[in-house]
Amino acid sequence: MDKIKVIGKQTLSGKIYISGSKNSVVSLLPAAILSDECVIEKVPHISDVLDLEDILRFLNVKFSLESGTIHLDSRQMVNKPILEEYSSKLRASYYFMGAMLARFNKVEISFPGGCNIGKRSFDFHLKGFEKLGAKVTISDDLYRIEADELKGAVIDLPFPSVGATVNILLAAVKASGKSVINNAACEPEIENLIEFLISMGAKIKGVGTNRLEIEGVSKLSGGRVKVIPDRIEAGTYILAGVMNGDNLEICDVRPDHLTSFFEVLDEMGAKYKIEGDKVITNKSLKLKPVNIETAVYPGFPTDLQQPITTLLLNADGVSTVRETIYENRFQNTKYLNEMGAHIEVLGDTIKVYGPTFLEGKFVRTSDLRAGAALVLAALQASGETTISDIKHLLRGYSDLIKKLTDVGAKIWLEDE
Ligand code: EPU
Repeated sequence: MDKIKVIGKQTLSGKIYISGSKNSVVSLLPAAILSDECVIEKVPHISDVLDLEDILRFLNVKFSLESGTIHLDSRQMVNKPILEEYSSKLRASYYFMGAMLARFNKVEISFPGGCNIGKRSFDFHLKGFEKLGAKVTISDDLYRIEADELKGAVIDLPFPSVGATVNILLAAVKASGKSVINNAACEPEIENLIEFLISMGAKIKGVGTNRLEIEGVSKLSGGRVKVIPDRIEAGTYILAGVMNGDNLEICDVRPDHLTSFFEVLDEMGAKYKIEGDKVITNKSLKLKPVNIETAVYPGFPTDLQQPITTLLLNADGVSTVRETIYENRFQNTKYLNEMGAHIEVLGDTIKVYGPTFLEGKFVRTSDLRAGAALVLAALQASGETTISDIKHLLRGYSDLIKKLTDVGAKIWLEDE
């Protein structure tokens, strides 16, 4: 498996362009099968997209990708079980549950994959399908979900789960009658999906709120959408700029999707400036410690919790970070400590003692955002850092090596 090498302490300047959002595109691609033909623009180059394309190919969905725009034609699509070799590659494979249920009233799919950052159960998704009239059975690790007819229903989510909101929406858009999802997630990626579904003819009200009303339609057709900029990728590079930048410009950003993140940077005294869809960053000294708690949108995103921990190492004093979404999202701290950090893990909270100075080491990526946290650490460590198991990173950061090399980082891929 490939690894990344980084020689730290280089000044980063120039422009980094943010790609389309991973967590949007991974729901948009399965959603595409609800229509006969549709178009998705600004598709990022990440392995999660390649893995979803494999599933689409397996199901005989035709598509062509050119300059980041994908045209899909699912008229000849076939319904067959999606086995583990496909489903286990990524979490979002389970969005084919909702999408195929809507399209065929039946889906068979094996267990999804994704980062090992907690229990990540999907009971709310399955209960939602049952509410819509489907029967769920599991045998030989294969989920079989089928319905004679999907019927609109009121679904009260116990927690505003992103995945459950997506899956239930996908199933409900073609159910007969009206469905309501209460306590729905309202992450920008959900809005992006709703925009796509509406462009195909779906009837959905309450966009951007916790209550979605869906009036089922019998047919969806056409549809076009542009993937929103990846707010987590943007946050990661903004952190790189605050640590090592000299007028490093992060371009094609939606700053309004990062409000709680900017609030934390402001509290720390980080140097950055927002100009339209551009964030200009500079190396920031004398940072203040902060207390962060992750939360659902618009709260501080769990996906930036590990990356920002690397910045907290530069603060003058003790910071705390409480992770409220996942049970096991501190695996970055072990390697940061090996590089010279002083971080204590106390249940769902970490204490970060700053400032500390990092030294290049051999470290391992345990999950996607831990990988991002280690790249940020390597960029500011003295000497050379080797990061192994980078398959996790390639799942979610489009052209990572090129983007960082173009702004002055010394970072390259090596075969193990
Ligand atoms: N949960 C349940 N039951 C369910 C669904 C969720 O108990 O049926 C729990 C989960 O175990 C977890 C919490 O609720 O502890 C949040 O889960 P949610 O469903 O909101 O997250 P997700 O859909 O699995 C998506 C992103 C994650 C991101 C979260 C939160 C995708 C493919 N993944 O996950 O992205 O952290 O929302 O914003 O969209 C990442 O990009 O690194 C990543 C992990």
